[in-house]
Amino acid sequence: MTPHKGSDRAGEAADVRQRIEALRKLINYHNYRYYVLDDPEIPDSEYDRLMRELERLEAVHPELITPDSPTQRVGAEPLKEFGEVRHKVPMLSLANAFSDEELREFDARVRKLLGTKGPVAYAAEPKLDGLAISLRYEKGVLVQGATRGDGYRGEDVTANVRTIDTIPLRLLGGEWPEVLEVRGEVFMPRSGFCRLNEEARRRGEKTFANPRNAAAGSLRQLDPRITASRPLTFFAYGWGELSVERLADTHSESMRILRDYGLPVSPELQVLEGVEACLSYHRAMLEKRERLDYEIDGVVFKVDDLDAQEKLGYVSRAPRWAIAHKFPAEEALTVLRDVEWQVGRTGAVTPVARLEPVEVGGVVVKNATLHNMDEIEKKDIRIGDTVYVRRAGDVIPEIVRVLLDRRPADARRIRLPKKCPVCGSEVIKPEGEAIARCTGGLFCPAQRKEAIKHFASRRAMDIEGLGDKLVDQLVDKGLVHDPADLYALTKEQLTGLERMGEKSAQNLLDALERSKETTLARFLYAIGIREVGEATAQTLARHFGSLQAIEQADEETLQQVPDIGPVVAAYIAGFFRQPHNQEVIRRLREAGVHWPEGEPAPKPEELPLHGRSFVLTGALSRPREEIKAELQALGAKVTGSVSKKTDYVVVGENPGSKYDKARQLGITILDEAGLKKLLEEPDGRH
Ligand code: IVH
Repeated sequence: MTPHKGSDRAGEAADVRQRIEALRKLINYHNYRYYVLDDPEIPDSEYDRLMRELERLEAVHPELITPDSPTQRVGAEPLKEFGEVRHKVPMLSLANAFSDEELREFDARVRKLLGTKGPVAYAAEPKLDGLAISLRYEKGVLVQGATRGDGYRGEDVTANVRTIDTIPLRLLGGEWPEVLEVRGEVFMPRSGFCRLNEEARRRGEKTFANPRNAAAGSLRQLDPRITASRPLTFFAYGWGELSVERLADTHSESMRILRDYGLPVSPELQVLEGVEACLSYHRAMLEKRERLDYEIDGVVFKVDDLDAQEKLGYVSRAPRWAIAHKFPAEEALTVLRDVEWQVGRTGAVTPVARLEPVEVGGVVVKNATLHNMDEIEKKDIRIGDTVYVRRAGDVIPEIVRVLLDRRPADARRIRLPKKCPVCGSEVIKPEGEAIARCTGGLFCPAQRKEAIKHFASRRAMDIEGLGDKLVDQLVDKGLVHDPADLYALTKEQLTGLERMGEKSAQNLLDALERSKETTLARFLYAIGIREVGEATAQTLARHFGSLQAIEQADEETLQQVPDIGPVVAAYIAGFFRQPHNQEVIRRLREAGVHWPEGEPAPKPEELPLHGRSFVLTGALSRPREEIKAELQALGAKVTGSVSKKTDYVVVGENPGSKYDKARQLGITILDEAGLKKLLEEPDGRH
């Protein structure tokens, strides 16, 4: 070996050492942002990459592993303000598999260690993206709630945990062990998260980056009243200290027992035989992910048999008997290339981010919403910035935050255009309002197009076959200026359009004809009055009974309708004052659009479901808003959480904790068929 080569190798070793140290520093910093501040700077995928690089380097250079390396421990320091709880049974973490291959390797390892040839039974459940919690029950009473902390010492969050509706303060039954520590995840449902952020946005406050941060931020509040106001919930997935040896012989059976004690357990829990079944569970959950009302970042497989678990034991910080098979990350980093402005039906001019394409949650994302100018300013987003993009469920991808230290020198500020990018009319942003609007009204083709698309949409006039592209063409060619023009279209005009044969033209004419028979509520929704959504349209229709009565109502009269305040009343009255709108309505009726008109609605107390309180849960076959509107129209109240005051819980597929709670409280449970019957015969006995 030449001296030259020798020094090369020494240099290489020094490089590795330096890289390892740099990685540890970075990871520690991001741990602190994530666990202590609840304010991560980088997406989990980036964090995982750093961790994996460190793990790889340490695997090749085990002599460089130190006890304080982030690979050697679980989480963060507890906050000073909360009391400290020592976990007698440590709260460990899980090893990850990022591919089918890695899961097969895990299974091979398990079978080898157990010495089994045949398939192993695994308990499978979603990996919830919230925060781990340990609940201590003594003689069936909740005495302590603690966060994971560093796995050995966590924070005492008992007061906060007690505010979470789905966590029983006292266990059901009487057979429980004297000491029972339940381990599980506290998380925030997507719907609650959206509501919370919308409210924060409205009040000009800081929004949460994702439901996980919102859950963590809500649980680790020194003031439990704040926690109580946040929509948190809980699923149990294991146990810690027990005063008996075990609850049952398998994980799945133990979970069933916890469920009987009144603890919510994931309805997705399944026992699977062998790794191939695990892989198809992973695929099925990935497909189902978007439809769940809570975020999951993978699935967890646990060897079901507890004797086998014992045999497998632990390595440093994770059990050998369990693994998290992760999904593609829902957050990623990319660069904001440009901002374009879109004009909506109501003239709202909204910024859309054009991004360097990036894969998020398994889909390539090129555009994201920026909401409005206030959001852009609050987040200090500039063109050229490296941004954190998030895409979860079926929501539009959004830019969560900027990495300021990656801002290039030539980053450009984003400015609201003075002129509408579509029609050139002036754009105004009223003082104190977040939304800027084009003043072009129906003169603006963008507003015209959106108004017509809305008019034709399924829940409005339901004109089948009149899709967005077709509306664009009709407006661009000058064939349609307003919704009433649709009913004057001829077959000749239609067949002259792109991709429109004789048959589709006839189909469209037939659909237009069919749409003429409608309801007052649909019509009111279709004509696109600001702030009049489906529910308001239904209330209006029911309250007034006829279009004429609504047209003649002044703002004061309108405000007597439940849920209509001064702003909406002003929009409604203003709409009918416009001669242009009156003209369109006249032409629509002349074309044959009609609906049964009736008497004004009965008084609220005369409605068949007056005073009844409903909660909807699980996956229902129709949009919740639709069911909610129908129930409300019959006088019912629809609320988000189950309490003693709830009369009915309507349960769809895979209901969650609300179902459990309803059962606990002995509330009447309706399936969809039962609901249908009730809606059809609301006066029947109930
Ligand atoms: S079992 C001994 N099951 O993932 C390990 N964990 O990376 C016990 N998590 O700290 C964990 N869903 O907060 C388990 N169904 C599930 C889970 C789950 C989410 C979290 C948990 C844990 C982390 C481990």
